Amino acid sequence: MAKNHAAITAVAGYVPDDILTNADLEKMVDTSDEWIRTRTGVEERHILKGEGKGTSVMAIEAVNKLLKKRGISADEIDLLICATVTPDMVFPATANIIANHVGATNAYSFDIMAACSGFIYALTTGAQFIESGKHKKVVVVGADKMSAIVDYEDRKTCVIFGDGAGAVLLEPDSEGHGVIDSILRSDGSGEEFLHMKAGGSRKPASAESVANKEHFVYQDGQPVFKAAVTSMADVSAEIMEKNNLQSEDVAWLVPHQANLRIIDATARRMGLTNERVMINIQRYGNTTAATIPLCLNDWETKLKKGENIVLSAFGGGFTWGAVYLKWAYDGASVNQ
Ligand code: UT7
Repeated sequence: MAKNHAAITAVAGYVPDDILTNADLEKMVDTSDEWIRTRTGVEERHILKGEGKGTSVMAIEAVNKLLKKRGISADEIDLLICATVTPDMVFPATANIIANHVGATNAYSFDIMAACSGFIYALTTGAQFIESGKHKKVVVVGADKMSAIVDYEDRKTCVIFGDGAGAVLLEPDSEGHGVIDSILRSDGSGEEFLHMKAGGSRKPASAESVANKEHFVYQDGQPVFKAAVTSMADVSAEIMEKNNLQSEDVAWLVPHQANLRIIDATARRMGLTNERVMINIQRYGNTTAATIPLCLNDWETKLKKGENIVLSAFGGGFTWGAVYLKWAYDGASVNQ
């Protein structure tokens, strides 16, 4: 019997309406549009505004769109996995909140925290349940409200991040489409370079931790940049080699959108020119777990059945990895 692969059979994305441009940031911190564009590639990012609105608000929009596009009802979902570093609350899992709001009454749900690699970790995890035959419909959503943990007085971080959500549906495919391989890696010694100092069990929230701005993203940019360039490029080349893929065999690279320079280095290492690299960092910034599904959503109409696609990411932890998949449907035929 042919092995069942976990195929992406639908994709959807959501970004909030409010836009924060580089010109806006020039008024908030000592920066310039020129610096931000040349050092990162970002031109604008979407920000979720409104009292009481957490990451789940965007994820719910994305999942509802996903179900509508595929024409299935929420009670058909077996499992919903949410990748996020900005959960609505420390607990319960944001996935539980999303599942409740979309009406996924037959699903169980959990969160995965792997920072910017969250989506490929969650996709790989969800795919196992399809491949094993345990489940028929798994929703994987990557969503982050980075504006909730970014210090808009810190020019080193506030120019990079944005808010958004993206979701995919995984279903069994016996024709060889879907997730073919993945390589996931982590190295906890990266903790010192990228983390949030307080709000966890090591340093619970206190008046002092708030005053010291310890509930924001702390990033030492240079070491993270160096590790990201090396690791994302290496793991992308490794997954190609492992699966006997030459540059010309890869239709699309879908890189995590942290910095245009990191994306360029990865693409160069894979021998790909920019026409085959999904890049939307200029519009959304780094939306952490949402970058890859947002790319897939933006490029969906161009994707063709059978195309080889490599997803690649690097993020806090450190975590990184790559996924090789064969696209399962012609995007042009999907009602948007
Ligand atoms: O997605 C998860 C993983 N994260 C990443 O992959 C991010 C990796 N890191 C990066 O993308 C880059 O390190 C940053 C974009 C964060 C920073 O770029 P950089 O080229 O590494 O800049 P830097 O931190 O080395 O700073 C260079 C200079 C410094 O000034 P001095 O000390 O040379 O006078 C900074 O203070 O640029 C200055 N600078 C800025 N200037 C204008 C830093 N941020 C800004 C800014 N506007 N927003």
